[in-house]
Amino acid sequence: MKLGVNIDHIATLRNARGGVEPNLVEAAKIILNEDVSTLTMHLREDRRHIKDQDLFDINKLGARINLEMAATSEIQQIALNILPYSVCIVPERRMEVTTEGGLDVYGQKEKLKEFIKPLKENGVLVSMFIDPDLSQIEASSYIGADYIELHTGTFSNAFEKGVCTNELDKLKKAAVFAKNVGLKVNAGHGLNYENVHFMKQMEVLELNIGHSIISRSVFVGIQKAVREMLELIK
Ligand code: PXP
Repeated sequence: MKLGVNIDHIATLRNARGGVEPNLVEAAKIILNEDVSTLTMHLREDRRHIKDQDLFDINKLGARINLEMAATSEIQQIALNILPYSVCIVPERRMEVTTEGGLDVYGQKEKLKEFIKPLKENGVLVSMFIDPDLSQIEASSYIGADYIELHTGTFSNAFEKGVCTNELDKLKKAAVFAKNVGLKVNAGHGLNYENVHFMKQMEVLELNIGHSIISRSVFVGIQKAVREMLELIK
């Protein structure tokens, strides 16, 4: 299982004062020195954390960028300009604190099929961030996505309440179903140092983790925070 590190919240901290600290490019360099597979950034419509320039600067490092993005033409154009390693299409609502649920691929199949076409034609791998729902998986396969990223937020909330077995079962079944219809499977959202070990019970290629790693780095530094997570998912 590989690790993708989401660095949005380094930008959140920087933006709190509007200056340059903590420097996102420096952080990215430290993370890229570790055995991580991708750096994830979510360029939101309101640019609340990652800004366009961050994306350009980190792209110049030659990082494998996994760009989380809403299915809008503005962000699609930026993605086509920088051609990240992969994009993960997510739902986006202005008022939400973080992505609150999976994308409804089933309900907008034809629109999404057209939307991802130019990205795929330019060699960008395309992932759909979805709940562990079989109709969403089928729809992701239908539109030609390469990957799905299973939304683990509901599982993570259930873990906090001490009742995560059902949610874990849903994720496991979804991962098997997705593989059978030819999709590659990633997972992420709400994973932390306590609950991440459950992900070893299913076949997942990459975990995308942000908030818990960046939070841990306040205490131990970003390098150690990443190494500790890598150790847990080995
Ligand atoms: N995957 C997706 C699609 C996300 O939107 C997020 C949050 O930005 C994550 C993974 C990472 O979630 P967390 O910050 O809770 O680890």
